[in-house]
Amino acid sequence: MNKQRKYLFEEVYEYLWQRIERSDWKTGDKLPSIRELSMEMNVHRLTVYKAYQMLKQQGKVFVKDKSGYYVQGSSTSPIDGHSLLRANEKTYTLSEIHQQSVQYQFSQALIDPNLLPNHFLSDYVKKVFDLYPKVLSTYSTVQGDMELRDTLATYFITRYKTHLSHDDILITSGSQQALHLISQLFIKPRDTVLLERPSYSAAIDIFKSQDAHLIAIDIQPYGYDLEKVEMLMKQYKPRLFYVNPTFHNPTGYTVPTAQRKKLVELAERYNCVIVEDDAYHDIYFEKAPPPPLYTFDTAGVVIYVRSFCKYVSPGLRVAACVVPPAMKDGLLTVKGLADNGSPLLNQKIFLHYFSSPRLQQHLEKLRIALQIRKEIMEEELQKTNWSWISPDGGLNLWVQLPDPLPTDQLLQKAIENSVSFVPGLICDPLQQGFSSSLRLSYSYANEEQLRVGVRRLIEVVNTYA
Ligand SMILES: Cc1ncc(COP(=O)(O)O)c(C=O)c1O
Repeated sequence: MNKQRKYLFEEVYEYLWQRIERSDWKTGDKLPSIRELSMEMNVHRLTVYKAYQMLKQQGKVFVKDKSGYYVQGSSTSPIDGHSLLRANEKTYTLSEIHQQSVQYQFSQALIDPNLLPNHFLSDYVKKVFDLYPKVLSTYSTVQGDMELRDTLATYFITRYKTHLSHDDILITSGSQQALHLISQLFIKPRDTVLLERPSYSAAIDIFKSQDAHLIAIDIQPYGYDLEKVEMLMKQYKPRLFYVNPTFHNPTGYTVPTAQRKKLVELAERYNCVIVEDDAYHDIYFEKAPPPPLYTFDTAGVVIYVRSFCKYVSPGLRVAACVVPPAMKDGLLTVKGLADNGSPLLNQKIFLHYFSSPRLQQHLEKLRIALQIRKEIMEEELQKTNWSWISPDGGLNLWVQLPDPLPTDQLLQKAIENSVSFVPGLICDPLQQGFSSSLRLSYSYANEEQLRVGVRRLIEVVNTYA
């Protein structure tokens, strides 16, 4: 796909943002007026206005009393009435949160290791060495082990009745690597990326690290406002749209089938790559989710990223991407540059577990165990006036506190009480909202820890509310 030419207002935006980044104008400084800038840059006032609007939308500048545009600080302004929280405030990144050693772990969207098939996997390690004695003496191919790709192609065909072959599949080291490779291939600085709001915070960080211009569409329990998606595609010509439409992280929402078809049509119409991240597809409680977006794709606009890390083994780091033919060579090049192919041993261990009937048996038990944990967490939370929409799958509850309490600052107090969660703000691609929201994962802590930990969290919130 060809890179779109930049509009003039995007160039003005870039100029302004570069100057803010190199501190020519600091937090709180007044920026030049539209008139001054249009004269200085010899462009129409409307062009400058549009550039300022774009900066405003991203929370990089703000308007004060109609007196002009000012540089916004990088952190959100604290909410009045919470001075206790403001003192010693610390804003954590996701990886910093995960590094905190706490007794009640609700921040990791990971499954309790006691629920994973450790015993069987260790059996498979031995089998793999018997079957492939030289497995550690050779590289995998860059695209991934052929036997594994064949098995996955058959699995996808059987499950979704869409045709594909081993040639269309790329094995990556987790979906995290897939997202990183995709962003390296497609995103140049200032390219526009459309994301859901809220979104998976590590994906936000990946696109930011490529210096992308992020725009966002709200994800709701019913999916997206597709008219708005179309408007954003028309106006900003995003290079790609990163979606997590099935048991979305952090909200747990699932985009319905009818919207999936239309979304793919829109992406085709506006020449926008869809990156479909599907890490939770098999973690449903009652009913299997709708087929992935890529199964509606006839024009080659969707890259499907399917991770098996969560429920087989996070440590094996095996994910599969279904890649449209026109994008395959580019992705193989960046994958080759990154690591010359994912470790063959991991792929073979995964293959043998994946092809065995054990996987389905494990999944059936796991779904029940996770549903019970979700219900325990919900039972404890029902004693509060907090709100959430109970998800039909996935690992998280997306919870709203009734009063404006900055959860990013509350986190420090929770950690001091040995409880962790993910504050809403870091799930916002625009870094402006969800300050009173939090993501609570019910999958890592055991049943006893869930009860005690949630009670403790409620106490912490009640102390600072
Ligand atoms: C939506 C989403 N995508 C990707 C990942 C990363 O998964 P992996 O272990 O496959 O790299 C996660 C992990 O939390 C996730 O929630």
